[in-house]
Amino acid sequence: MRTLILGIESSCDETAAAVVADGREVLSNVINSQIDLHKLYGGVVPEIASRKHIENISVVVDEALEKAGVTFDDITAIAVTYGPGLVGALLVGVSYAKALSFALGKPLVPVHHIRGHITANYIAHPDVKPPYICLVASGGHSHIVRVDDYNDFEVIARTRDDAAGEAYDKIARVLGLGYPGGPLIDKLAKEGNPHAVEFPRVQMAEGSLDFSFSGVKTAVINYLHKAEQKGEEVNKADIAASFQQAVCEALCTHTLSAAKAAKVKTVALAGGVASNSCLRQMMTDMCKKEGIDVIYPPPVLCTDNGAMIASAGYFGYLREDFAGLDLNAVPSLPL
Ligand code: KG4
Ligand code: ZN
Repeated sequence: MRTLILGIESSCDETAAAVVADGREVLSNVINSQIDLHKLYGGVVPEIASRKHIENISVVVDEALEKAGVTFDDITAIAVTYGPGLVGALLVGVSYAKALSFALGKPLVPVHHIRGHITANYIAHPDVKPPYICLVASGGHSHIVRVDDYNDFEVIARTRDDAAGEAYDKIARVLGLGYPGGPLIDKLAKEGNPHAVEFPRVQMAEGSLDFSFSGVKTAVINYLHKAEQKGEEVNKADIAASFQQAVCEALCTHTLSAAKAAKVKTVALAGGVASNSCLRQMMTDMCKKEGIDVIYPPPVLCTDNGAMIASAGYFGYLREDFAGLDLNAVPSLPL
C-alpha cells in the first residue's frame, strides 16, 4: 500500500496543500498565492497573510484532495510546516493540521520549512541520495547545508544579515520594479551587462563560508542615490545584472568551497532563489569544472509549496517523528 501524505504549508504568503505518494510522486500540488495582495504594500504584511490563510486553507486542502483523486480516508498522515516563518501565518496551518489529525485519527508530522525546501529535490530527482551539499536561498534564509542522510542535516554557513531573496526584493523595490523582486531582476538582468558596475563582494574571516548581502544592497542604493543627485540616467538592466552577478558569485563560490571540503559529488539548490537563471547557470558551470553535479527543482517546487512539505513529512513519518495536539508554531525554529 502506498503512503499518502497530505502536506500543508502556510509559513509566509502562500497557502498550499499537496498529496504526495511515497515521498516522491506528487498527486496534487495546490498553491494559493497572496502575492497580488501584498504587492500593494511592496512586501508581505503579516496580519493580512494570516487572515487570508484562514480564508483559504480549507478550500486549498479540499482542492488538493480532489485533484489527487483521494479522500481524507485514503490519507496516511498529515504533515505541516510548524516553523520557521510568520507566527500568525504558521498558526493557521498548524491549527488546521492538528484539527484534521484529531478528527481523522491520523498521525501528525511536524515539518521544518527549510527541510521541506531541501526535500523538493527528491521529488524532482528521484534517484538523488545523500550525502550532498544544499544551498537553501529564499526570502528568509541563505544557508549552506550538508545533508548527510534523509533526516540528518548540518548548517555549514548562513547569512549574517539579509537573506539573498530579501536583497533581491529590496533592490527590485529601489529600482521601481515591483514585488516579489527576484523574478523581475532575473528577467531584467538578461538585458544588462553583469560587469557594468563592480559592486562589493564580502569576504568573511578565514574559514567562514557565511554570507553577507547588506553591503551589496547598500552599495546599489548609494549608487542609485548618487546618480539621482547628479541628475544622471542609470541603466536599470545593467544595475540589475551587476547586482545579481555579485549575489550569485557569493552564493556559488561559498557553496562550491563547501562541496569540495565535504568531498561530495552533488550540489543541490533549494528555496525561491533557486529558480534564478543566473544562479543555476553559474553554479552548474563552476561545479562542472570540479566534476560535481548540480541539481535543482523546477520553479514551482523552489518557491513555497505543499508538495515539499508532504515529501519531507514522508521521511518524518518513516521514522515515526509524530507530534501531539500540543504542537505549536515556532517562528525562529533552528534546523
Ligand atoms: O522560498 P520562498 O517562496 O519563500 C521563503 O521561504 O522565503 O522564496 C521567496 C523568495 C523571494 O525573495 C523571491 O524574490 C525569490 O524567492 N525568488 C527569486 C526568483 N524567484 C523567486 N529570486 C531570484 N530569482 C528568481 N527567479
Ligand atoms: Zn520558503
